[in-house]
Formats: sequence, C-alpha cells, structure tokens
Amino acid sequence: MAYYQPSFVCNAGEITPEITIPCTRKFKEVLFVIRRSMKKLCEKGGRRTRKRHAKIAAGTGSHAGRPDPVAYAKSLGYSEKELKTVPVDAVMSHGCGNPVALLELRPGEIVLDLGCGGGLDAFLAAQRVGPAGRVIGVDMTREMVKKANENAEKAGLENIEFKHAPIERLPLDNNSVDVAISNCVMNHCFDKVRAFKEVYRVLKPRGRMCISDLVTAGKFSEDVLKDKVWGEWLTVAQSKNDYLRAIEGAGFQEITVEGEATFPMAENDDRLKGRIVSIHVTARKQ
Ligand SMILES: C[S@@+](CC[C@H](N)C(=O)[O-])C[C@H]1O[C@@H](n2cnc3c(N)ncnc32)[C@H](O)[C@@H]1O
Repeated sequence: MAYYQPSFVCNAGEITPEITIPCTRKFKEVLFVIRRSMKKLCEKGGRRTRKRHAKIAAGTGSHAGRPDPVAYAKSLGYSEKELKTVPVDAVMSHGCGNPVALLELRPGEIVLDLGCGGGLDAFLAAQRVGPAGRVIGVDMTREMVKKANENAEKAGLENIEFKHAPIERLPLDNNSVDVAISNCVMNHCFDKVRAFKEVYRVLKPRGRMCISDLVTAGKFSEDVLKDKVWGEWLTVAQSKNDYLRAIEGAGFQEITVEGEATFPMAENDDRLKGRIVSIHVTARKQ
C-alpha cells in the first residue's frame, strides 16, 4: 500500500505535518477534486484582475475617487521632479506608494518591476541604474505591457523592457536579478507564498526586494464583503501579519516594514476608513 505525505502551502509557508495517509483510490479522487477546484479559483481570480486592469490601461476603468494622475501620484509620494523625468503617458500610477524612493539603486544593477502596469516605477529605476544597468517590467495584463513598451519606445530608452507574464511564472533565470520592486500588486495574488517564492528564485544571493502594497486592518461589514469592487478584492487581500508571514514563508530575511499609512482611496468610504493600509516593506534573499 502506498502512503501519502501531505504538504500544504499556506500563508505561513510550506507545512508538512508528521502524518501519512494510506493512498486509496477514493483518497486520490478527493485530492484530485480539491486540487482542480483550487486551480480553477486561482484562474478565475486572475482573469478578473486582468480584465479590470485591461480597462484601466484603456483609460476606461472605474477607479472611484481617484484624482487626476499627477495629483494621485504626488499623494503617493512621487515628487514633481520625478514625474517630469518620465514619459508623460507613464504617469498613470495605480500603486500605493513610491518603492523606488525607498531604495538605494546602484548604476549597473538589474531591477525587476513586478506588476509594472504602465511602467512608472520601472522608468524611475532605469534612470538610477543608468545605461550599464537594466530594468525588466513584468505584468500579466497584455494591454499594460503594450502601453509600457510604447512609452519606452517613445522615450528611446534601451535599458528597459517589458514582458507579458504572471509573477507566479517569471520568464527569468534563477539568481539573475539584483533588486525586485513592486507597487500594489502582490495583494492581488491568490497564493502569495508562491508568488514571493518565484521572486526569491530569480533574485541573486543577497538580492533585495522593496515593495509597497495594500493590507487589511480589522474586520469588514457584510455590505463591504458583497461590494462589487472591494468584496472581490477582500477574498485575496491579507492582514499585515499574514502578508509578512507569506514573505517569510518564501524564504526572505531582514524583513522590515519601512512605513505604513492608510490608503487614501479607501478613506472616502466610511465602511473602509482606516481598514485598508498601505505598507512599504524591504527584505533580502539569503
Ligand atoms: C494596481 S496595478 C499597479 C501597477 C503599477 N505597479 C503601478 O504602480 O502603477 C496592479 C498591476 O499588477 C498586475 N498584476 C496583478 N496580479 C499580477 C500577477 N499575478 N502577475 C503579473 N501581474 C499582475 C496588473 O495587471 C496591474 O497592472
């Protein structure tokens, strides 16, 4: 009789309990159904996120309460000077911070922007690493990647490229990137440990990660959980502790919360006020 050693990937990382289960036919069938349902759930969430961001790229997305792009970017901590140095069409931040501002980037470094959107952070990073360095932006929404590539072409930049791919399957070699940045993206990932593990894989030893992202604080009303925009997002969003545990579960060390603030877009809604928080985290590969 074959035995099954279960192992689960959860927010705390990969867990392998000290039990084995007789691998009967019925058990295998149940396991197959669970795995297939989990996969379908992930794919469904991914399709919805892609659809929403394709609309945003086309300028038709509903981002309730967002002021004009420059004002919004400034509210996240981008300076006027920074915004003037990037292609005009790249100033379409849909982030929740300014991760590049937190970083010390050196000329010649290779930077990966996870969920790059229109490429604002990638363009800022490209200036800092200079012609000897390189920035690779990755996004799973084809329309966002197209827009970012058009922006790079218009600006005549050669040290930057944008690729269409999910973070969970990065088109990059192991140990090939010095720094990974991300702005308001991992919160959308269904399996955060898996996504962070993939980032860990492509970072060089001692490589750095610097991210701004949204986490939840406290409980939400039934009304919010059923809300068309926020309710769906809340099914994948995590509390700060769970989020940091996911980073740790992927193997990262020196995890530091560099700052946090309430997310301005949620503050206009009494149901969300104070409950959606933007955090800025740095971490390092071993
Ligand atoms: C809120 S927007 C932020 C865009 C950009 N970082 C910025 O600051 O403007 C989230 C972006 O992440 C992308 N995204 C979400 N989940 C992703 C995943 N699993 N893999 C790759 N891209 C993803 C979306 O397509 C979208 O462009």
